[in-house]
Amino acid sequence: MSAGPARVVLLAHPAAHSLSPRMHDAAFAAAGVPARYAALDVPPAELAAAVARLRAAPYLGANVSVPHKEAVARLVDELTGAARAVGAVNTVVRHGARLVGHNTDAPGFLRGLAELGFDPAGAGCLVLGAGGAARAVVWALLGAGARVVVVNRDAARAERLVADLEAAGAPHLPAARLLVNTTSVGMAGGPDPDGLPLLTPAQLAALPAGAGVVDLVYRPALTPLLRAAAARGHATQNGLPMLLWQGALAFEAWTGRPAPAAVMREALERGLAGSPA
Ligand code: ATR
Repeated sequence: MSAGPARVVLLAHPAAHSLSPRMHDAAFAAAGVPARYAALDVPPAELAAAVARLRAAPYLGANVSVPHKEAVARLVDELTGAARAVGAVNTVVRHGARLVGHNTDAPGFLRGLAELGFDPAGAGCLVLGAGGAARAVVWALLGAGARVVVVNRDAARAERLVADLEAAGAPHLPAARLLVNTTSVGMAGGPDPDGLPLLTPAQLAALPAGAGVVDLVYRPALTPLLRAAAARGHATQNGLPMLLWQGALAFEAWTGRPAPAAVMREALERGLAGSPA
């Protein structure tokens, strides 16, 4: 073992605006784990070398974000069931020289839903988007016993997701008890920061009373979708709980210790309050 603190890195491109360093450094400090977390901006051409460096001390492992989650799934030695099913790795754990790829986005999303008091078992759920985040959400919801319908701008991509994960393909908005936006619409600096993702206001109005609405966007904390849904009386949640819980599960995988979730949540909330919306 080398001297000095253990390391965990985020492999992403870009990486500068990540809240994960604050969240995990606060967690390491609170749990007394001698480790440091740093975000690395890794262009695709440098990804394989960056992953190879994780195979020795001082690395406990890594997080992986856009655009590397699928590529890292092909660079590690072993995948957990969730990582294999979703086809994406957001957390790497080192065991000796071996790297195991995990996907904590999927179970992290379910822990966030539990905060909303929502039980997916048997529930109709409508997922907007068919990218990487959608795959984790759909797989998690199906595993929890939900019936999931996926809608995407690029219909062929939605069909591929549906075929891979055995979700349903046709829009069925009125029956849904949960609506989840996984697209970047509504995100500060995103494609349409003032827009509703793939929905008309009339479609949103057709969502049954009592349905929950989750937006995986957390900047801004209140997206146009969440604002409109809250105005109609729906229970709402932004992307912060999923961000928190995927991080808490990653922390537990690296350290073998329970995550100090309250400290991590506070670090995220402070980071968001201090960053431009
Ligand atoms: P992530 O890993 O965050 O899911 P991604 O894989 O790039 O990122 O997926 C982005 C999602 O946002 C996709 O569903 C994308 O739709 P397409 O598959 O049609 O590209 C969706 N998205 C991005 N910009 C959008 C826009 N302006 N309107 C509707 N959907 C949009």
